[in-house]
Amino acid sequence: MKRIAVVASGRGSNFQAIIDAIRDGKVPAECIALITDNPKAYAIDRARRAKIPCSIVDYATFPSREVYERALLASMHEADADLFVLAGYMRILGASIVRAFPGKMINIHPALLPSFTGLHAQRQAVQHGVKVAGCTVHFVDESLDGGPIILQKCVPVLGADDEDALAERILEQEHIVFPEAIRLFCEDRLVIEGRKVRIL
Ligand code: GRF
Repeated sequence: MKRIAVVASGRGSNFQAIIDAIRDGKVPAECIALITDNPKAYAIDRARRAKIPCSIVDYATFPSREVYERALLASMHEADADLFVLAGYMRILGASIVRAFPGKMINIHPALLPSFTGLHAQRQAVQHGVKVAGCTVHFVDESLDGGPIILQKCVPVLGADDEDALAERILEQEHIVFPEAIRLFCEDRLVIEGRKVRIL
């Protein structure tokens, strides 16, 4: 059984989908920690309900980003996880953290990468007028949303879609595809080959 730790900053609906998938036996893993930079994150309530230990590394209490990242790194080492799952972690991870866990960190992004990296991906999709949007689960490397892609799901953009409507429909797919990718990882079925991920 793999040990997974979730890193989240906000409402944590993806975190909840992961908790539920593990509970339902769909993902052979134990969620051993929630790590958050935000003491007000709703994800903390979800962790408490699921009896998952929570480590709060409150960004606002540190004198610099560097010092914050040292504390975050320490709490990640302490979690001793096989996999770190970034589920709405709203900061860019520094190189020291990314390098500490090669091939052991995945993220979900609400766009079909490599399109629309960074913040407000759904808004970018609506503004660009794309007809197909979606979400991507990928390994984290030092680039912005640019690591090897594990799984993607398409979501059609409807004529009446604004950013929120599209985000909501993408989120439904995120809740399916993220646990699926974690299951593949936990079953040792993901092989990183250069820029690509081979699924066994
Ligand atoms: C999701 O849209 C995810 O793709 C992005 O941040 C959002 C997190 O939502 N990285 P939630 O906190 O899981 O509800």
